[in-house]
Amino acid sequence: MTRRLRVAVLLGGRSSEHEISQASARSVIEALAARHDVVTVAIGRDGRWELGTGSPPALGTGAPPQLEHGAPKQTLPVVGGNGVATTLMEIDVVFPVLHGPFGEDGTVQGLLELADLPYVGAGVLGSALCMDKSVVKDVLRANDIPVARSVTLREGDPVEHPFTYPLFVKPARLGSSVGITKVHDESELAPAVELARGHDEKVLVEELIEGIEVECSVLGNRDPVASLPGQIVAHAEWYDFHAKYDEGGMELRVPPDLPQETIEAVQRTAVRAFVVTDCEGMARVDCFVRPDGEVVVNELNTIPGFTATSVYAKLFDASGLPYGELLEQLLALALERHERRRRQAF
Ligand SMILES: Nc1ncnc2c1ncn2[C@@H]1O[C@H](COP(=O)(O)OP(=O)(O)O)[C@@H](O)[C@H]1O
Ligand SMILES: [Mg+2]
Repeated sequence: MTRRLRVAVLLGGRSSEHEISQASARSVIEALAARHDVVTVAIGRDGRWELGTGSPPALGTGAPPQLEHGAPKQTLPVVGGNGVATTLMEIDVVFPVLHGPFGEDGTVQGLLELADLPYVGAGVLGSALCMDKSVVKDVLRANDIPVARSVTLREGDPVEHPFTYPLFVKPARLGSSVGITKVHDESELAPAVELARGHDEKVLVEELIEGIEVECSVLGNRDPVASLPGQIVAHAEWYDFHAKYDEGGMELRVPPDLPQETIEAVQRTAVRAFVVTDCEGMARVDCFVRPDGEVVVNELNTIPGFTATSVYAKLFDASGLPYGELLEQLLALALERHERRRRQAF
């Protein structure tokens, strides 16, 4: 077990997944507070960083942890209770519980690198790469990991593609199914591209993959391990925002209804995808399994939904690693990477 640490949890953030992040952070803070001193930094939709006490906004339990006022190791600009700019003081490790742009995409990770702070999850490159559904597919393809065929439309590109309907249109860098359309015929294509472009100037048109959706949690730095995969049974035509977050919108089947060799193929593929995309700490690797058993990677989420009942945690729980222990391992992995990198010459 990790020693008692001062952990800064970053939550909220500028993306449309702000509220999802708050829910994730509440779970993380509640579990961490039993073993560590937790301080929160709430990032507003407007991008303002505000130093909290360690209690998640909606819970408000317990006294704020007493932080030592030693010489600051770093200078993250945050607004303290009195509205005056301050720094985070001494922090052992940062846990960014932020989803989507300006949180999961390498930007915050870059800031934490500059501040020389250990932090949970993928570094700058892995975060930025996995955030971009277009470039990550190129990297996966180059490593012989099957992905859906897709075309990337940049600003001003004509809306053309070689695929049959139905197909998927999505913004390159977002999550939670926001801005995504399942396009059934050509009449729905232009509005779908328009919607996606409202979220990102880069848009993907993707062939539809037939099969089941299976997700696999991966944990580790150098020798990552895969959880048991889980099958997503969405109570909707596809796994849209409502299926993801509405009560009863989906069902997670662990393990999935697949032969053992296919389950192992999903796990192997998930770990390989994690490694070739430069992930560290954690990622949830989302796949399709075609009727013939081929595993196709859909995307990697470097900061997946993180409540105790989110898929990432549930899959490890079903694999024998409960939520509290999972968090301990993530903190230890963050410290291990920081220590390892400090030994290198730049
Ligand atoms: N190529 C595809 N074939 C079949 N279903 C897809 C495809 N792309 C996306 N989907 C459906 O849309 C959902 C959301 O797409 P995804 O690329 O995972 O975006 P997000 O990052 O918002 O989760 C998937 O979980 C799946 O149900
Ligand atoms: Mg997804």
